[in-house]
Amino acid sequence: MADASQFQDRLLSLGLARVSEAAAIASARLIGRGDEKAADQAAVDAMRTQLNMLDINGVVVIGEGERDEAPMLFIGEEVGTGNGPAVDIALDPLEGTTLTAKDMPNALAVIAMAPRGTLLHAPDVYMEKLAIGPGYAEGIVTLDMSPAERVRQLAKAKGGVPADITVCILERPRHQDLIESVRSTGAAIRLITDGDVAGVIHCAEADITGIDMYMGSGGAPEGVLAAAALKCMGGQIFGQLLFRNDDERDRAARAGITDLRRIYTRDEMVTADVIFAATGVTDGSILRGLKREVGWVTTETLLMRSKTGSVRRMTYRTPVK
Ligand code: FBP
Repeated sequence: MADASQFQDRLLSLGLARVSEAAAIASARLIGRGDEKAADQAAVDAMRTQLNMLDINGVVVIGEGERDEAPMLFIGEEVGTGNGPAVDIALDPLEGTTLTAKDMPNALAVIAMAPRGTLLHAPDVYMEKLAIGPGYAEGIVTLDMSPAERVRQLAKAKGGVPADITVCILERPRHQDLIESVRSTGAAIRLITDGDVAGVIHCAEADITGIDMYMGSGGAPEGVLAAAALKCMGGQIFGQLLFRNDDERDRAARAGITDLRRIYTRDEMVTADVIFAATGVTDGSILRGLKREVGWVTTETLLMRSKTGSVRRMTYRTPVK
């Protein structure tokens, strides 16, 4: 029979799904309305309200920003009722604010929870990321390799040639060399305009999404959320923080990071078992987006626990005011 802590853990995971659902539902009326800020604010408010109902003694370690720049769900904010396990919380109430405002694919409401002190306190700087799905030997691709070499190694491990590989990359001017290097191998690239948490998760379900590898720089907080997802689904992710100025280096110092050049593995970003929940806001290849009918909204949520490897997909239909 399962012990009490496992049971508690299971109940908490269901509570966490309600948190991402609430954030997604709150942004429903703001999909495709061109207002990123309003969509984000609605998701933040709803996520915070629902999170504070959970019986946890939580601290936000990946949140909306530092205390002086984010009034809600800031880094260090205590969340939950205070009655329950001491946990770290990583969240992004609306991952893909622009995707939501423009009604483009793969916007998500995302949250992860793990024992206190086990999620990397990544500052709000960029992170160089490299991710692949499950089933490959540890370290067959690394951040030290050139992008072209990573493609060649992954193709070999997959039993094919570079032309059999598809890499997901954020479309940004800073990625021009990266894109050229990957294209030089003959591999395909799926360019995304935003949403690299979803971009990384795509690698874990390559047969459905067609994405074998994720590469490029994006938000460091999103890197930790993606690591939490891959810890549940399987797969590898490597991340190296990127600093553009002293202010960013100060942010790292405040987060307790001393080795500024360190490359983090998945299990160094998330050092213990984690629960991860994501609800689709706009339609995507991993989750259906919110379905709106007059008076009703339906969500799809992915809820996963690394301890058991369980992956649950839930739909939820509820009346909306
Ligand atoms: P927001 O939801 O905060 O707008 O972030 C979207 C996002 O695309 C992330 O997925 C990604 O990590 C980051 O922005 C990339 O940053 P930038 O737009 O500066 O390249």
